[in-house]
Amino acid sequence: MEEIKIFSPGTVANVGCGFDVLGFCLDTIGDEMVIRKTTEKGVRISKIEGGFELPLEVTKNVAGVSALALYEAASPNFGFEIEIYKAIKPGSGIGSSAASAAGSVFGMNSLLGNPFDTHQLTYFAMKGEAIASKSEHADNIAPALFGGFTLVKSTHPLEILQIPSPSDLYAVIAHQKIEIKTSEARALLPNEIPLADAIIQWSNLGSLIHALHTNNFALIGSALKDVIVEPHRSQLIPNFQTLKTAAHEANALGTSISGSGPSVFSLCQGKAVAHDVENAQKELLKSTGIPFDIYVSKINTQGIKILTQ
Ligand code: HSE
Repeated sequence: MEEIKIFSPGTVANVGCGFDVLGFCLDTIGDEMVIRKTTEKGVRISKIEGGFELPLEVTKNVAGVSALALYEAASPNFGFEIEIYKAIKPGSGIGSSAASAAGSVFGMNSLLGNPFDTHQLTYFAMKGEAIASKSEHADNIAPALFGGFTLVKSTHPLEILQIPSPSDLYAVIAHQKIEIKTSEARALLPNEIPLADAIIQWSNLGSLIHALHTNNFALIGSALKDVIVEPHRSQLIPNFQTLKTAAHEANALGTSISGSGPSVFSLCQGKAVAHDVENAQKELLKSTGIPFDIYVSKINTQGIKILTQ
């Protein structure tokens, strides 16, 4: 195989109560990437389309940095060229950098005959993610590579758990087109948290994991609460409370910030409810004058998809 074209999906990190550890993978929003072998050794990014200002320089681009980490480990006697067709806006909170970082290593690994397992690919991709957000978190990378819901049990050593998702579970993503840098949204958070808040948070995270294992939609709803991060970061997101109320009134199970925002995600039982939530949030956002996109997506249990090879 000389060339591969992939769909590298958007992801929702944190999922309310699982800051830096829980995430899930989307189906309807993602980038496309072409990775091909070259006779010239090394890694080159030859094209980035999508209208965003992103560096072609390999050591400054998340896809390039993760690619170099894999390239050094594999040390092949040929090189790679990467083309990136971005649809996920950087700074949107739906895993733009993770899609690029995970996509390059997935594509290169496929062209090499899959010498690395998904945990190793996660490790390489985290090197790229680190230059975008100034932290090596894996809660976007892991769902992009493994698909479905993932829990990062530990980053050192890296241990990812795959969590099942009910087949009728849908996500609605409301993305107001303002940029929030992950590094800035992280700087807002306190270093210490009250024990009482921690107790609520780990009770909710444990309950959410249990609910996903047992298809308990009511419990997904009652567990999808974030008392630690959301109160700080929601101040950066216009219309956050009204988006949440609109989703609740349209019967969403729960709503919180997608990654570090500004996107807001809701989980819903069934496609019909998801479209009700989409319509309610659309009506609301139309009246604000802020440009926005809304996506409805089933949980993508596959992760990155091969389009052509
Ligand atoms: N867990 C990370 C954060 C995800 O919330 O800072 C960033 O998308």
